[in-house]
Amino acid sequence: MGVVYAVVNQKGGVGKTTTAVNLASCAALDGARVLLFDLDAQCNASSGLGVERSTIAGSMFDVVTAHDPADGARTLEDIVVATEVAGLSVCPATIDLAGVDLSLANVIARHLRPDPGGHGPVPRHPDHQRPGGS
Ligand SMILES: Nc1ncnc2c1ncn2[C@@H]1O[C@H](COP(=O)(O)OP(=O)(O)OP(=O)(O)O)[C@@H](O)[C@H]1O
Ligand SMILES: [Mg+2]
Repeated sequence: MGVVYAVVNQKGGVGKTTTAVNLASCAALDGARVLLFDLDAQCNASSGLGVERSTIAGSMFDVVTAHDPADGARTLEDIVVATEVAGLSVCPATIDLAGVDLSLANVIARHLRPDPGGHGPVPRHPDHQRPGGS
């Protein structure tokens, strides 16, 4: 059975990301298999673990917003990437996550993907570049 740790504080700049990255790394170095989810549009956890935007197949945005692969939907298995820390993998973020909470505010059961006939794809951030460079 896995253990889920959430590092949460409403105040900004208090060390949440730093704590999460170091906690995940230390647990992995201690022998645990660790999967870190980055759901922050700043992408600091992803970049801090060496994940290059140009090399990823998708991000948490593609997992939480899209339903149809044609709209860019991805599964966690699609997007997970190994890090240089043995045993530590990350499901990376992209800047598209900025404002996604507002985009999903009216979506029923928004903890799930929108249903296919429902709300259509959530708009990407204007600075979006498709992971992989296209
Ligand atoms: N224990 C610490 N001692 C000193 N500086 C720290 C410590 N933890 C984090 N910092 C520094 O504090 C700053 C903010 O840290 P971090 O980005 O982890 O905060 P955050 O809570 O994730 O911020 P945000 O709310 O913007 O996501 C960074 O410059 C980081 O290097
Ligand atoms: Mg942070």
